[in-house]
Amino acid sequence: MSNRKHRIAVIPGDGIGKEVIPVGQRAAEAVAGKHGFTLEWQDFDWSCERYAETGAMMPEDGIAQVKEFDAIYLGAVGFPGVADHVSLWGLLIPLRRELDLYANVRPVRLLRGMTSPLAGRGPEDIDFIVVRENVEGEYSNIGGRAYQDSDQEMVSQLSVFTRRGTDRILEYAFELAKKRKRRHVTSATKSNGIVHTMPYWDERFAAMAKNYPDIGTAQYHIDILTAHFVQHPDWFDVVVASNLFGDILSDLGPAVAGSIGIAPAANLNPPRDFPSLFEPVHGSAPDIAGKGVANPIAAVWTAAMMLEHLGEGAAAQELEAAIETVLEDPAARTRDLGGTADTRACGEAVLKALA
Ligand code: NAI
Ligand code: MG
Repeated sequence: MSNRKHRIAVIPGDGIGKEVIPVGQRAAEAVAGKHGFTLEWQDFDWSCERYAETGAMMPEDGIAQVKEFDAIYLGAVGFPGVADHVSLWGLLIPLRRELDLYANVRPVRLLRGMTSPLAGRGPEDIDFIVVRENVEGEYSNIGGRAYQDSDQEMVSQLSVFTRRGTDRILEYAFELAKKRKRRHVTSATKSNGIVHTMPYWDERFAAMAKNYPDIGTAQYHIDILTAHFVQHPDWFDVVVASNLFGDILSDLGPAVAGSIGIAPAANLNPPRDFPSLFEPVHGSAPDIAGKGVANPIAAVWTAAMMLEHLGEGAAAQELEAAIETVLEDPAARTRDLGGTADTRACGEAVLKALA
């Protein structure tokens, strides 16, 4: 018997986050038992509800509290009544920046049992990973307004690309490609229109590629790249992008693979100086919150990514296999996938597939 133990900070957050995260925890517990490790969970009630009561999404020393854990498992934050920029900048963005979670990683795979909105595409056509730079680039707060309310009014916003920030995300993408079958990296650029930062990005991409002679490469301007995601999803293996381009591609990607209700994401600190954060791609879904009908598969797949990161690859694979088994059974599918199962029934089906 091994005594591997992983300590996990759990932030269910708002809306369906509170409904799907417990399902992911139970599924992770089930594989932990089988693979001889234990998971120790600690709940944090950081949410819009907390904001309404205390005026803050999390306590002052929130970051310090979660820093000591091995990983963070988060549902979704944001709910009507609190402006989205308040909830995002009050919780998720500080976590991403202060824990230096610089790689946002979203696998895009057409699982068996899922139908792509793209006609004629099967699981063999759609299997890639979007790697988004998560802490710099276009999302900086440098800039401002001048000559307000006059006809000379102007506003500027500065993009920031550091050599360290650019190289480390490119390196992450190439290292990831090394572990995959296709061994290929595509870079998203726009060096025709954006004349300083993007040619620099291309230059660093070419320099990094030299260190990986066995990895194939391609680069496309972001505009045509979005079209290729739709028309040629089979071209892609690892796709690396700046913060803004990656944000867009990492929503488009899961869309071509079926439903946001199954899409997982990781915010990684690859050097492991801090815990990484794992969250489904979807938000708190206020339109269905409280009804018990949310699809818990994204949360379960996200838990699998977390276990993988914690070194429990075999357990992660078993979880992913269980997801595919469940999705192949129409009776276990939730409403967003055209089924009738509720969150609980779908969760039970996952546990049954693991048994
Ligand atoms: P959303 O992802 O919450 O919902 C979009 C649509 O997808 C809704 O119709 C919803 O019912 C459906 N949906 C999402 N997840 C589902 C699931 N697991 N099962 C079945 N249906 C599902 O995005 P929306 O509506 O733009 O945002 C709602 C709130 O969530 C906002 O406050 C937003 O800021 C926040 N949000 C938080 C994120 C995070 O914590 N990382 C990410 C995206 C949004
Ligand atoms: Mg987004």
